[in-house]
Amino acid sequence: MINILLSGCNGKMGKIISTLASEDGEIKIAAGYDINTVSEFGYKVYDNPDNISEEIDVIIDFSHPAAFDSVMEFALRKEIPIIVCTTGLSKEQLDCVSESAKKIPVFYSANMSIGINLIIQLAKTATKLLADKFDIEIIEKHHNQKIDAPSGTALAIADEINAELENTMNFVYDRHSVRKKRDKKEIGIHAIRGGTIVGEHDVLFAGNDEIITISHSARSKEVFAVGAIKAAKYMYGKPAGMYNMNKMIEEL
Ligand SMILES: NC(=O)c1ccc[n+]([C@@H]2O[C@H](COP(=O)([O-])OP(=O)(O)OC[C@H]3O[C@@H](n4cnc5c(N)ncnc54)[C@H](O)[C@@H]3O)[C@@H](O)[C@H]2O)c1
Repeated sequence: MINILLSGCNGKMGKIISTLASEDGEIKIAAGYDINTVSEFGYKVYDNPDNISEEIDVIIDFSHPAAFDSVMEFALRKEIPIIVCTTGLSKEQLDCVSESAKKIPVFYSANMSIGINLIIQLAKTATKLLADKFDIEIIEKHHNQKIDAPSGTALAIADEINAELENTMNFVYDRHSVRKKRDKKEIGIHAIRGGTIVGEHDVLFAGNDEIITISHSARSKEVFAVGAIKAAKYMYGKPAGMYNMNKMIEEL
């Protein structure tokens, strides 16, 4: 049984992971860390990592940038693998993620959905085969409460495609500001906001008389929780280093 410390356990993601973990024979939430110390799932919740007495094998962090420093400090002190899923980390905190990976195993992916990481791989393969003759456009759709646009995931897809093309492409966001024809060296990125859409990403390869679309649709936040639990099992017993979804998918 892999004993997990769940950071941000009383948040939306924390509750989904707690539910999934209770039905999983390989992992157990041994303790939680959250400023809200209500215990809803039978494990003890701490508001200070220093007080955690349970044996921990892996940490999953779905919390808040304000919680990051103390949870990472705990991981380093106890030399425990950590899966950082919290987004919106500062530049210093992102530097700390890479520095910490020199001492302990650290898993970091802006998007924990296995499906999204798979479509990134597929988009890279399609880029290798099609980029000469096809125009590449990325369209993402999210709920009306999302503040940032385009999504971090759309940008990550664009970055990976661009890296495949030796970073020769320019990103063009929407097309209302300039009246001119599309350049071959562009990746168009478009954001749509409405209703309760959890997250949709389409990568279009538009050629002469044919369009290939690589598409991912998240129907609930559970897809991120499933990915994080898979990552916890993958990280158990790993040596120090930087790990991510791409690496995990390639190795599984
Ligand atoms: N990487 C991914 O694929 C992915 C997917 C979904 C969400 N996220 C990120 O995970 C994080 C959590 O998402 P959520 O939807 O569960 O958010 P949420 O707001 O519902 O939950 C956050 C939890 O963190 C706790 N918290 C806040 N500040 C804290 C502090 N200083 N110390 C300890 N605990 C603190 C809150 O009490 C809350 O229980 C966000 O950063 C979100 O963007 C990442």
